[in-house]
Amino acid sequence: LEASFQPKPLAGRRVLLTAGPTFERIDAVRGITNSSSGKMGFAIARAAWEAGAEVVIVAGETAQATPPGCRRINVLSAQEMLTAVEQEVDDADIFIAVAAVADYYVLNPSEQKIKKDAHILTLELAPNPDILARIATRPQPPFCVGFAAESENLLEYAEAKRKRKHLPLLAANLVQQAMGADDNEVILLDDNGEHRLPRGLKLDVARKLIGHVAQLYVHGKT
Ligand code: CTP
Ligand code: CA
Repeated sequence: LEASFQPKPLAGRRVLLTAGPTFERIDAVRGITNSSSGKMGFAIARAAWEAGAEVVIVAGETAQATPPGCRRINVLSAQEMLTAVEQEVDDADIFIAVAAVADYYVLNPSEQKIKKDAHILTLELAPNPDILARIATRPQPPFCVGFAAESENLLEYAEAKRKRKHLPLLAANLVQQAMGADDNEVILLDDNGEHRLPRGLKLDVARKLIGHVAQLYVHGKT
């Protein structure tokens, strides 16, 4: 049994998470997606449960097993993810957006499989809703945590993202280091500045992140 959180800092709290990629349909057999194994999101779900929280995961297509004690809602597209999050969010104290949401969807997906021909095929893409920004700007938002996977200018881009989305906490990492791997290195950004977590297994990083969330949310300090 896990002794990582004793006493349990999130006992009685409800945590809602998004995890994994979204999938935007092009036709009956194809789509656009983001690279995301779902490992980090599911590790955070497990860590939140270990910390005593009631956990709901809204998950895109991923091979991850549902951690013990967590309720899971499977979705495909960003729009479906938003709908599921909006249905669950009123009950949530803490919302953690870990999903790699596709920024665009295909405007007119084809019911039938598109046949190839010799011409150039153009897809029309329209922007998806920003799930995290929508939740964070509600009148009475849950405590919102975002992720920023950047390929360059990590701290600058991540802090700009935190401000733009009105987040009390954001976890930043370099995509080159994290994608698909079992370990990760993240920097937490909050109103008090930067907190570098040591590189480690995603579950260990997740436990430290949840510990930080609990301190900020429950005690209002870092
Ligand atoms: N996010 C979201 N809904 C979206 C896009 C992003 O909920 N449509 C969330 C992600 O889950 C993550 C955070 O917002 O927690 C940042 O996602 P990211 O893709 O890094 O940022 P964007 O705002 O989409 O900006 P860009 O991709 O241009 O860097
Ligand atoms: Ca994005």
